[in-house]
Amino acid sequence: MSMDPTPKPYGSPDRPGESQRPAKVTVPVIRGRKGSESPILCLTAYDYPTARLVDEAGFDLILVGDSMANVVLGHASTLKITLDQIISATRSVKRGADRPLVVADMPFGSFHVSHEETLRNALRLVREGGAQAVKLEGGAARAATVRALVEADIPVMAHVGLLPQSVHTQGGYRVQGRTVASARRLLQDALAVEAAGAFAVVLEGVPAEVAAVVTARLKIPTIGIGAGGACDGQILVFHDVIGLTLSPPPSFVRRYAEVAEVIRGALAGLRDDIVKRDFPGPQECYPLKEELPLGWDIGVEDPSNC
Ligand code: KIV
Repeated sequence: MSMDPTPKPYGSPDRPGESQRPAKVTVPVIRGRKGSESPILCLTAYDYPTARLVDEAGFDLILVGDSMANVVLGHASTLKITLDQIISATRSVKRGADRPLVVADMPFGSFHVSHEETLRNALRLVREGGAQAVKLEGGAARAATVRALVEADIPVMAHVGLLPQSVHTQGGYRVQGRTVASARRLLQDALAVEAAGAFAVVLEGVPAEVAAVVTARLKIPTIGIGAGGACDGQILVFHDVIGLTLSPPPSFVRRYAEVAEVIRGALAGLRDDIVKRDFPGPQECYPLKEELPLGWDIGVEDPSNC
């Protein structure tokens, strides 16, 4: 059965009423969770039904990540996704997510040319997409960009460590912070984006020991992906978690379902039933409103014979 694409107003049969409506997660709420016992629960989503399911599962933050380029659009890297694609996905996510903070990723090229263009692009993510914050990749080198956005009242989640958008510069998808020099650079990057006003920072592909020290040194929450358990929050890519990527996931992913297998089984079932003429059955057909008399089709001319 397909999900109804119309957002359900609160109080309608399959969404809780106003009185049970949980308080929305805001940027200050995420900031306030620094050092909290309960980790900040983050996940990506790119469309309405998955955003709704992520919200229902109690996640605090949804990232409309540029990982959509890989897991939804089939690109080999994240570099090709456009601002318009992220805006469109963010709008769908916003229709499904009520409680979580929705953060939109700034795609490659959207924050590289000038502060003016960066601001224009980030404003589109907020105004057209409905994002409550943006995320952008880069450390000290992007601190001025982070500051420009924050000064324009656009909250920024920074992202340091392994940077998928820097695949060419980093020479592939390389874990960062494995040596003393690299770990010190990483800490410097994290401190720089914090000083620039980021409200949280994603640490991607970093040894757990290094992420733990960065987390202890920062006053803003760290959100880890492949960065160990000491971060203030965790984030993963939705499709990796549910087993809907068609290649093996990275080693830091834990899979909780094999949805691709479920889909394969369902499609094989439908295919076989159609071939056997077992689908559609009587219960999948519309009933008549009145009995059709014998010869009811006589006198209806085929215009191609006239
Ligand atoms: O695009 C994305 O999904 C991300 C997360 C992996 C942090 O940047």
